[in-house]
Amino acid sequence: MEHYAIKGGNALVGEVEIGGAKNAALPILAASVMTDESVYIDNMPDVRDTNVLLKAMANIGVMEKRTGRHSVVLNAANVSNLVVEDDNIKKIRASYYLIGALLSKYKRAEVALPGGCDIGCRAIDQHIKGFEALGAEVVIEHGLIKTRAERLMGAHIYMDCVSVGATINVMMAATLAEGTTIIENAAKEPHVVDLANFLNSMGANIKGAGTDVIRIKGVTRLHGTEYAIIPDQIEAGTFMFAAAVTKGDITVKNVIPKHLESIVAKLIEIGCQVEESDDCMRVVASKRLKTTHVKTLPYPGFPTDMQPQIAVALGLSQGTSIVTDTIFENRFRYVDELIRMGAHIKVEGTTAIIDGVEKYTGARISAPDLRAGAALVIAALAAEGYTTVEDIHYIERGYEDFHLKLQALGAQIELLTDDKEFQKFKLKTG
Ligand code: EPZ
Repeated sequence: MEHYAIKGGNALVGEVEIGGAKNAALPILAASVMTDESVYIDNMPDVRDTNVLLKAMANIGVMEKRTGRHSVVLNAANVSNLVVEDDNIKKIRASYYLIGALLSKYKRAEVALPGGCDIGCRAIDQHIKGFEALGAEVVIEHGLIKTRAERLMGAHIYMDCVSVGATINVMMAATLAEGTTIIENAAKEPHVVDLANFLNSMGANIKGAGTDVIRIKGVTRLHGTEYAIIPDQIEAGTFMFAAAVTKGDITVKNVIPKHLESIVAKLIEIGCQVEESDDCMRVVASKRLKTTHVKTLPYPGFPTDMQPQIAVALGLSQGTSIVTDTIFENRFRYVDELIRMGAHIKVEGTTAIIDGVEKYTGARISAPDLRAGAALVIAALAAEGYTTVEDIHYIERGYEDFHLKLQALGAQIELLTDDKEFQKFKLKTG
């Protein structure tokens, strides 16, 4: 099985280019089925989740032409099948974006119930509520969500909780509905705005994305477009925290500083220096980190997708910090692994009480999910001695060339396929 071997101790220094945002790419790729014309997408991250989605789209008849590692042309004129149920699609959360997209265009879709990282109960009641408000029938049968509508009619929808997925799905379904839809208590994440911009570039009429009220005037058809996906705020944040944890000096390039405000605020609070320029952000950490308290919140609050990374940093700070995840109730599964590395953390419900230690020590650990996996790699890079990280397929869901980007910053990390190679790694790095 593939795993990472890591020798910790090097401060990470240098520049790293941030790729396109996975969580924007997924709905944008899915929304490409909403027109019969060709759609050219650039700055697409080459990660497992986008590749799984593209494969599922190919299976229902979407023509795909890769024009580069990060660019693809999609044409959905010959979609022949509105049932999406290949084995892999169940593993990704974003499979459900095909419901909103197909329902909008074809007024019917059947998609395998979504999977994704096991970070808590991931309900879809708000998606269903939105589809039903637009006039669709929704049933769950044989592991599929089946939706169908004679016509979709605009509606006034109040989301009971702030949900990225439900906001995106309802926005897509409403785009080709008759009349106006208003989504209240909408999610404001940058990827919600990116999808709205993408749909508008295809002829949709969506206003207010990025605020908590989104107004969608239905249009009868969408046309082709050329579109570049926004940079990944979470990939950027992960490298920024890698600088903090390893006492390094990292510049993340190709970022939108506005999207990183809550992350920067916390880095400054824990004692890092942060310098911002147009599309770069430099993080320098030289002293022992300070404590802080963190509560994850919908955007513009501190993202749940950065919670494990900040906890790893706070685990090395001087004193006690409290981290509460208000979005997902099971996002502390990495804590047991971090404790193997010497961390002092106690989890009570959705709160972690972290007593900072002076150092982590290398251990055999595994990634419990995508962001936690990346956070544990960062912990290992700061730890004394050797660490192996298993189950790295989670990390590959959302980070492109993670170990290569880290190597370029001076990390001693290698992707190994065989336990025997670990001895060689030790000899090389010893
Ligand atoms: C998206 O998940 C992201 N995934 C997640 O990123 C991210 O953690 C999450 O948003 C929050 O920012 C993708 O974009 C593919 P939600 P999503 O619907 O859409 C509750 C990563 O690491 N809820 O905003 O599934 C839900 O239980 C991943 O890249 C309902 O109750 O998240 C949760 O508590 C992991 N009913 C909260 O809302 C619903 O119908 C937020 O979930 C929908 C959600």
